[in-house]
Amino acid sequence: MNEIQETVVSGMRPTGPLHLGHYFGVIENWKRLQKEYRCFFFVADWHALTSEYASPQRIKGFSRELLIDWFSAGLDPEGAVFFVQSQIKEHAELSLLFSMLTPLGWLERNPTYKDVKQELVSKDLNTFGFLGYPVLMSADILIYKAKRVPVGEDQLPHLEICREIARRFNYLYSPVFPEPQAILTEASRLAGLDGRKMSKSYGNAIYLGEEMEEVRKKVFSMLTNTQRKTLKDPGDPAMCNLFPYFEIVDPHGEYEDIVEGCKKATWGCKDCKKLLFSKLEEFLEPIHQKRKELEGDPSLIEEVTTQGRERAREIASQTMEEVRKAVNLNY
Ligand code: TRP
Repeated sequence: MNEIQETVVSGMRPTGPLHLGHYFGVIENWKRLQKEYRCFFFVADWHALTSEYASPQRIKGFSRELLIDWFSAGLDPEGAVFFVQSQIKEHAELSLLFSMLTPLGWLERNPTYKDVKQELVSKDLNTFGFLGYPVLMSADILIYKAKRVPVGEDQLPHLEICREIARRFNYLYSPVFPEPQAILTEASRLAGLDGRKMSKSYGNAIYLGEEMEEVRKKVFSMLTNTQRKTLKDPGDPAMCNLFPYFEIVDPHGEYEDIVEGCKKATWGCKDCKKLLFSKLEEFLEPIHQKRKELEGDPSLIEEVTTQGRERAREIASQTMEEVRKAVNLNY
Protein backbone atom coordinates (compact mmCIF):
# COMPACT_ATOMS: atom_id res chain seq x y z
CA MET A 1 0.00 0.00 0.00
CA ASN A 2 1.46 3.37 -0.79
CA GLU A 3 1.63 6.06 1.79
CA ILE A 4 -1.14 8.15 0.28
CA GLN A 5 -3.69 5.52 1.20
CA GLU A 6 -2.65 5.09 4.81
CA THR A 7 -5.40 6.27 7.14
CA VAL A 8 -5.02 9.05 9.69
CA VAL A 9 -7.63 9.81 12.36
CA SER A 10 -7.67 12.73 14.74
CA GLY A 11 -10.17 14.68 16.75
CA MET A 12 -10.48 17.82 18.85
CA ARG A 13 -12.78 18.38 21.78
CA PRO A 14 -15.17 21.32 21.28
CA THR A 15 -14.36 23.28 24.42
CA GLY A 16 -13.77 26.78 23.04
CA PRO A 17 -12.41 28.84 20.18
CA LEU A 18 -9.03 28.08 18.63
CA HIS A 19 -6.06 30.37 19.17
CA LEU A 20 -2.71 30.89 17.48
CA GLY A 21 -1.17 28.15 19.61
CA HIS A 22 -3.63 25.65 18.14
CA TYR A 23 -2.98 26.98 14.66
CA PHE A 24 0.80 26.62 14.81
CA GLY A 25 0.54 23.32 16.69
CA VAL A 26 -2.35 21.23 15.44
CA ILE A 27 -3.88 22.93 12.41
CA GLU A 28 -0.68 23.40 10.42
CA ASN A 29 0.07 19.76 11.04
CA TRP A 30 -3.39 18.63 9.88
CA LYS A 31 -3.08 20.76 6.75
CA ARG A 32 0.10 18.94 5.86
CA LEU A 33 -1.31 15.50 6.67
CA GLN A 34 -4.37 16.15 4.51
CA LYS A 35 -2.10 16.22 1.51
CA GLU A 36 -0.33 12.96 2.29
CA TYR A 37 -2.88 10.67 3.92
CA ARG A 38 -6.48 9.62 3.84
CA CYS A 39 -7.66 11.68 6.79
CA PHE A 40 -10.63 11.55 9.12
CA PHE A 41 -10.95 14.65 11.30
CA PHE A 42 -13.79 14.91 13.76
CA VAL A 43 -15.29 17.02 16.52
CA ALA A 44 -15.01 14.89 19.66
CA ASP A 45 -18.21 16.06 21.35
CA TRP A 46 -18.66 12.88 23.40
CA HIS A 47 -15.15 13.35 24.71
CA ALA A 48 -16.05 16.92 25.69
CA LEU A 49 -18.93 15.45 27.71
CA THR A 50 -16.55 13.37 29.82
CA SER A 51 -15.66 16.55 31.69
CA GLU A 52 -18.60 18.85 30.78
CA TYR A 53 -21.42 16.41 31.49
CA ALA A 54 -22.94 18.67 34.14
CA SER A 55 -23.35 21.61 31.73
CA PRO A 56 -23.55 20.37 28.17
CA GLN A 57 -25.37 23.48 26.87
CA ARG A 58 -22.32 24.99 25.24
CA ILE A 59 -20.99 21.93 23.44
CA LYS A 60 -23.20 22.25 20.37
CA GLY A 61 -22.20 25.87 19.82
CA PHE A 62 -18.54 25.07 20.37
CA SER A 63 -18.77 22.20 17.86
CA ARG A 64 -20.05 24.54 15.20
CA GLU A 65 -17.43 27.13 16.07
CA LEU A 66 -14.73 24.50 15.86
CA LEU A 67 -15.74 23.56 12.33
CA ILE A 68 -15.75 27.24 11.37
CA ASP A 69 -12.30 27.64 12.92
CA TRP A 70 -10.99 24.61 11.00
CA PHE A 71 -12.14 25.71 7.58
CA SER A 72 -11.39 29.38 8.02
CA ALA A 73 -7.88 28.40 9.09
CA GLY A 74 -7.42 26.69 5.75
CA LEU A 75 -8.21 23.01 6.22
CA ASP A 76 -9.44 21.79 2.86
CA PRO A 77 -13.04 20.50 3.14
CA GLU A 78 -12.42 18.28 0.12
CA GLY A 79 -9.21 16.85 1.50
CA ALA A 80 -10.52 14.79 4.41
CA VAL A 81 -13.64 13.27 5.93
CA PHE A 82 -14.95 15.78 8.48
CA PHE A 83 -17.67 14.82 10.92
CA VAL A 84 -19.08 15.09 14.42
CA GLN A 85 -18.35 12.07 16.62
CA SER A 86 -21.80 11.72 18.19
CA GLN A 87 -23.35 11.39 14.73
CA ILE A 88 -21.55 8.11 14.16
CA LYS A 89 -23.18 5.86 16.73
CA GLU A 90 -20.91 2.96 15.79
CA HIS A 91 -18.11 4.59 17.81
CA ALA A 92 -20.21 4.02 20.92
CA GLU A 93 -20.95 0.41 20.07
CA LEU A 94 -17.29 -0.35 19.47
CA SER A 95 -16.35 1.46 22.65
CA LEU A 96 -18.80 -0.71 24.57
CA LEU A 97 -17.31 -3.90 23.16
CA PHE A 98 -13.78 -2.68 23.90
CA SER A 99 -14.83 -1.91 27.48
CA MET A 100 -15.52 -5.61 28.00
CA LEU A 101 -11.93 -6.58 27.36
CA THR A 102 -10.10 -3.58 28.82
CA PRO A 103 -8.59 -4.31 32.23
CA LEU A 104 -9.27 -1.55 34.76
CA GLY A 105 -5.59 -1.43 35.62
CA TRP A 106 -4.70 -0.07 32.18
CA LEU A 107 -7.07 2.84 32.70
CA GLU A 108 -6.24 3.50 36.34
CA ARG A 109 -2.50 3.60 35.68
CA ASN A 110 -2.85 6.03 32.77
CA PRO A 111 -0.74 9.09 33.71
CA THR A 112 -2.87 11.53 31.68
CA TYR A 113 -5.95 10.34 33.55
CA LYS A 114 -4.25 11.01 36.87
CA ASP A 115 -2.93 14.43 35.77
CA VAL A 116 -6.19 15.76 34.40
CA LYS A 117 -8.14 14.53 37.37
CA GLN A 118 -5.77 16.37 39.67
CA GLU A 119 -5.86 19.54 37.60
CA LEU A 120 -9.60 19.78 37.14
CA VAL A 121 -10.51 19.73 40.80
CA SER A 122 -13.51 21.95 40.13
CA LYS A 123 -15.20 19.04 38.36
CA ASP A 124 -16.10 15.65 39.68
CA LEU A 125 -14.28 13.35 37.32
CA ASN A 126 -14.85 10.25 39.38
CA THR A 127 -16.94 8.79 36.63
CA PHE A 128 -17.04 5.70 34.50
CA GLY A 129 -17.01 7.84 31.34
CA PHE A 130 -13.92 9.78 32.30
CA LEU A 131 -11.99 6.68 33.29
CA GLY A 132 -13.04 5.16 29.98
CA TYR A 133 -11.90 8.15 27.91
CA PRO A 134 -9.12 6.14 26.21
CA VAL A 135 -11.53 3.30 25.42
CA LEU A 136 -13.80 5.63 23.47
CA MET A 137 -10.74 7.19 21.85
CA SER A 138 -9.55 3.73 20.80
CA ALA A 139 -12.90 3.13 19.15
CA ASP A 140 -12.63 6.48 17.30
CA ILE A 141 -9.32 5.42 15.86
CA LEU A 142 -9.75 1.72 15.26
CA ILE A 143 -13.19 1.93 13.67
CA TYR A 144 -11.44 3.52 10.65
CA LYS A 145 -8.46 1.15 10.99
CA ALA A 146 -6.15 4.12 11.21
CA LYS A 147 -2.43 3.44 11.34
CA ARG A 148 -1.41 7.02 12.18
CA VAL A 149 -2.78 9.35 14.80
CA PRO A 150 -1.54 12.93 15.15
CA VAL A 151 -1.74 13.88 18.83
CA GLY A 152 0.04 15.96 21.41
CA GLU A 153 2.33 14.42 23.98
CA ASP A 154 -0.36 14.23 26.67
CA GLN A 155 -2.32 11.84 24.45
CA LEU A 156 0.47 9.27 24.03
CA PRO A 157 -0.64 7.13 26.98
CA HIS A 158 -4.11 6.93 25.43
CA LEU A 159 -2.60 5.73 22.21
CA GLU A 160 -0.61 3.09 24.06
CA ILE A 161 -3.89 1.83 25.51
CA CYS A 162 -5.39 1.89 22.02
CA ARG A 163 -2.66 -0.42 20.75
CA GLU A 164 -3.14 -2.73 23.70
CA ILE A 165 -6.87 -2.89 23.08
CA ALA A 166 -6.29 -3.65 19.39
CA ARG A 167 -3.80 -6.38 20.28
CA ARG A 168 -6.12 -7.95 22.82
CA PHE A 169 -9.10 -7.88 20.50
CA ASN A 170 -7.09 -9.41 17.66
CA TYR A 171 -5.75 -12.08 19.99
CA LEU A 172 -9.08 -12.99 21.61
CA TYR A 173 -11.24 -12.98 18.45
CA SER A 174 -9.69 -12.38 15.06
CA PRO A 175 -7.18 -9.96 13.58
CA VAL A 176 -9.41 -7.05 12.64
CA PHE A 177 -7.37 -4.02 13.77
CA PRO A 178 -3.98 -2.43 13.06
CA GLU A 179 -1.86 -1.10 15.93
CA PRO A 180 -1.81 2.65 15.32
CA GLN A 181 1.28 4.81 15.81
CA ALA A 182 1.33 8.41 16.97
CA ILE A 183 2.46 11.27 14.80
CA LEU A 184 3.62 13.50 17.60
CA THR A 185 2.40 17.08 17.28
CA GLU A 186 5.21 19.31 18.52
CA ALA A 187 3.92 21.81 21.02
CA SER A 188 3.67 25.18 19.33
CA ARG A 189 6.74 27.33 20.03
CA LEU A 190 4.46 30.31 20.30
CA ALA A 191 4.23 31.42 23.91
CA GLY A 192 1.24 33.30 25.27
CA LEU A 193 1.09 37.07 25.70
CA ASP A 194 2.60 36.76 29.18
CA GLY A 195 5.32 34.24 28.28
CA ARG A 196 3.54 31.19 29.66
CA LYS A 197 2.13 28.50 27.37
CA MET A 198 -0.68 29.96 25.25
CA SER A 199 -3.90 28.72 26.78
CA LYS A 200 -7.49 29.74 27.19
CA SER A 201 -7.30 29.16 30.92
CA TYR A 202 -4.36 31.56 31.35
CA GLY A 203 -6.18 34.32 29.44
CA ASN A 204 -3.03 34.92 27.37
CA ALA A 205 -4.20 33.81 23.93
CA ILE A 206 -4.92 35.48 20.60
CA TYR A 207 -7.88 33.79 18.94
CA LEU A 208 -8.17 33.05 15.23
CA GLY A 209 -11.57 34.71 15.08
CA GLU A 210 -10.71 37.67 17.26
CA GLU A 211 -11.51 41.27 16.18
CA MET A 212 -8.39 43.15 15.08
CA GLU A 213 -9.04 45.86 17.64
CA GLU A 214 -8.81 43.24 20.40
CA VAL A 215 -5.69 41.80 18.80
CA ARG A 216 -4.14 45.28 18.80
CA LYS A 217 -4.79 45.72 22.51
CA LYS A 218 -3.35 42.31 23.24
CA VAL A 219 -0.23 42.82 21.15
CA PHE A 220 0.47 46.18 22.77
CA SER A 221 0.13 44.63 26.21
CA MET A 222 2.54 41.78 25.44
CA LEU A 223 5.45 40.89 27.63
CA THR A 224 8.71 41.44 25.73
CA ASN A 225 11.96 41.23 27.67
CA THR A 226 11.90 41.97 31.39
CA GLN A 227 15.65 42.68 31.27
CA ARG A 228 15.07 45.62 29.00
CA LYS A 229 13.58 48.26 31.25
CA THR A 230 13.74 51.32 29.00
CA LEU A 231 14.24 52.08 25.34
CA LYS A 232 17.83 53.09 26.10
CA ASP A 233 18.77 49.65 27.44
CA PRO A 234 20.13 47.33 24.81
CA GLY A 235 17.81 44.38 24.23
CA ASP A 236 18.29 40.80 23.11
CA PRO A 237 15.80 39.02 20.83
CA ALA A 238 16.92 35.71 22.30
CA MET A 239 15.55 36.82 25.66
CA CYS A 240 12.32 38.23 24.26
CA ASN A 241 8.86 36.73 24.42
CA LEU A 242 7.65 38.64 21.38
CA PHE A 243 10.49 38.10 18.91
CA PRO A 244 9.77 34.40 18.22
CA TYR A 245 6.33 35.46 16.95
CA PHE A 246 7.97 36.95 13.86
CA GLU A 247 9.66 33.71 12.90
CA ILE A 248 6.47 31.75 13.32
CA VAL A 249 3.86 34.12 11.92
CA ASP A 250 6.11 35.33 9.10
CA PRO A 251 8.74 32.60 8.56
CA HIS A 252 10.10 34.15 5.37
CA GLY A 253 10.55 37.64 6.77
CA GLU A 254 13.95 39.30 7.16
CA TYR A 255 14.62 40.46 10.69
CA GLU A 256 18.38 41.13 10.81
CA ASP A 257 17.90 44.88 11.08
CA ILE A 258 15.54 44.47 13.97
CA VAL A 259 17.90 42.17 15.81
CA GLU A 260 20.65 44.75 15.32
CA GLY A 261 18.43 47.64 16.33
CA CYS A 262 17.22 45.85 19.43
CA LYS A 263 20.76 45.04 20.53
CA LYS A 264 21.91 48.61 19.90
CA ALA A 265 18.85 50.13 21.56
CA THR A 266 17.80 51.99 18.42
CA TRP A 267 14.69 49.90 17.93
CA GLY A 268 12.20 49.67 20.76
CA CYS A 269 9.69 47.15 21.97
CA LYS A 270 6.87 49.39 20.83
CA ASP A 271 8.30 49.32 17.30
CA CYS A 272 8.28 45.54 17.46
CA LYS A 273 4.70 45.55 18.65
CA LYS A 274 3.61 47.78 15.78
CA LEU A 275 5.36 45.55 13.31
CA LEU A 276 3.98 42.37 14.85
CA PHE A 277 0.49 43.80 14.76
CA SER A 278 0.80 44.44 11.03
CA LYS A 279 2.14 40.92 10.47
CA LEU A 280 -0.79 39.49 12.42
CA GLU A 281 -3.17 41.62 10.38
CA GLU A 282 -1.76 40.08 7.22
CA PHE A 283 -1.90 36.59 8.69
CA LEU A 284 -5.42 36.86 10.10
CA GLU A 285 -7.01 38.74 7.23
CA PRO A 286 -7.72 35.72 4.97
CA ILE A 287 -8.80 33.69 8.01
CA HIS A 288 -11.31 36.37 9.00
CA GLN A 289 -12.49 36.68 5.41
CA LYS A 290 -13.18 32.96 5.19
CA ARG A 291 -14.88 32.99 8.57
CA LYS A 292 -17.26 35.70 7.38
CA GLU A 293 -18.17 33.60 4.36
CA LEU A 294 -18.82 30.53 6.48
CA GLU A 295 -20.85 32.42 9.04
CA GLY A 296 -22.88 34.07 6.30
CA ASP A 297 -23.89 30.79 4.72
CA PRO A 298 -24.46 27.95 7.22
CA SER A 299 -25.14 25.53 4.39
CA LEU A 300 -21.41 25.47 3.57
CA ILE A 301 -20.47 23.73 6.81
CA GLU A 302 -23.66 21.70 6.72
CA GLU A 303 -22.70 20.28 3.34
CA VAL A 304 -19.22 19.25 4.40
CA THR A 305 -20.38 17.54 7.58
CA THR A 306 -23.30 15.81 5.88
CA GLN A 307 -20.96 14.33 3.31
CA GLY A 308 -18.43 13.47 5.99
CA ARG A 309 -21.08 11.81 8.11
CA GLU A 310 -22.20 9.61 5.23
CA ARG A 311 -18.66 8.57 4.39
CA ALA A 312 -17.71 7.93 8.03
CA ARG A 313 -20.87 5.91 8.62
CA GLU A 314 -20.20 3.78 5.61
CA ILE A 315 -16.74 2.78 6.80
CA ALA A 316 -17.67 2.53 10.46
CA SER A 317 -20.56 0.21 9.69
CA GLN A 318 -18.35 -2.02 7.54
CA THR A 319 -15.88 -2.35 10.40
CA MET A 320 -18.71 -3.07 12.84
CA GLU A 321 -19.91 -5.93 10.68
CA GLU A 322 -16.49 -7.50 10.92
CA VAL A 323 -16.37 -6.80 14.63
CA ARG A 324 -19.80 -8.30 15.36
CA LYS A 325 -18.83 -11.37 13.44
CA ALA A 326 -15.56 -11.67 15.36
CA VAL A 327 -17.40 -11.40 18.71
CA ASN A 328 -20.24 -13.69 17.61
CA LEU A 329 -22.85 -10.97 17.64
CA ASN A 330 -23.79 -11.29 13.99
CA TYR A 331 -27.39 -12.36 14.47
N1 TRP B 1 -8.35 13.13 23.24
C1 TRP B 1 -8.01 14.01 22.15
C2 TRP B 1 -7.55 15.33 22.70
O1 TRP B 1 -8.02 15.77 23.72
C3 TRP B 1 -9.19 14.18 21.22
C4 TRP B 1 -9.56 12.87 20.58
C5 TRP B 1 -10.67 12.15 20.80
C6 TRP B 1 -8.78 12.18 19.62
N2 TRP B 1 -10.66 11.03 20.04
C7 TRP B 1 -9.52 10.99 19.31
C8 TRP B 1 -7.55 12.42 19.02
C9 TRP B 1 -9.02 10.07 18.38
C10 TRP B 1 -7.06 11.49 18.11
C11 TRP B 1 -7.80 10.32 17.80
O2 TRP B 1 -6.73 15.96 22.09
